[in-house]
Amino acid sequence: MKITIAPSEHDFDVMAAWRIIGQILKKPDSVIGLSTGQTTKNMHAIVSDIYKRYPFDTSRITLFNVDELTNLPRSYAGCCYTMIRDQLADALDIPDERFIMPQTISDDYKEECRLFQERLEKKGGIDLQMLGLGYNGHIGINQPGTPFGSETWVSPMDPVFEARVRKETGVGPEHELGGLTLGIRTIMRARKIVLIAKGSHKAEMVRLMLKGPVTEDIPASVLQLHPNCEFLLDADAAEYVKDMA
Ligand code: GLP
Repeated sequence: MKITIAPSEHDFDVMAAWRIIGQILKKPDSVIGLSTGQTTKNMHAIVSDIYKRYPFDTSRITLFNVDELTNLPRSYAGCCYTMIRDQLADALDIPDERFIMPQTISDDYKEECRLFQERLEKKGGIDLQMLGLGYNGHIGINQPGTPFGSETWVSPMDPVFEARVRKETGVGPEHELGGLTLGIRTIMRARKIVLIAKGSHKAEMVRLMLKGPVTEDIPASVLQLHPNCEFLLDADAAEYVKDMA
């Protein structure tokens, strides 16, 4: 396992940004999977800023996000399509043809999942998947208990996140909310994965992910088995795993 510890949060953000830029420079037709949340915000801003100042070729890059909310309009600021457009895809001049995302509203989500996965496969599969770490060990929106054999599917949201989305959108309980996410097996097929986690609130989950058993109770623990996964942490998140770096 490759574990990299950044000395400060800012170093972490810059190093994470360079994982994306490095991939684009190395393989200009890369298919790159992103992830939303607090962890990736600064990293996206740094990539955008470097591109603005020192433009590199993004004309053949394909982007997507590992997951997306369902049953909410794309105009909701919390939808992954909108977040990634605003944080990175627009800045890098990526048109919709090279920004693969499922629809947020559909009457056939099974078909949306199939199409999402098929479009990625047609592009040659995932070269790099950037992954955040959920507070309960989820990756994408695959909650604890998700079978490791899962392909792209609609997972229930975790209750904390769901409550927040309902509060922000005013969507009532009569509308089912979910998270369309690459499955665990789909994620594991990525040629390279960079799991990023920062902050002391992630330290215990980082310990369980790296030092605990590989178990469906902690979805991120499956990454111990990936042949090309880097765990990029800041010093706070790495508190209990410093001996492994
Ligand atoms: C959400 C996203 C995940 C992300 C996680 C971490 O659940 N669906 O893809 O990895 O949040 O979020 P944060 O970086 O805010 O801790």
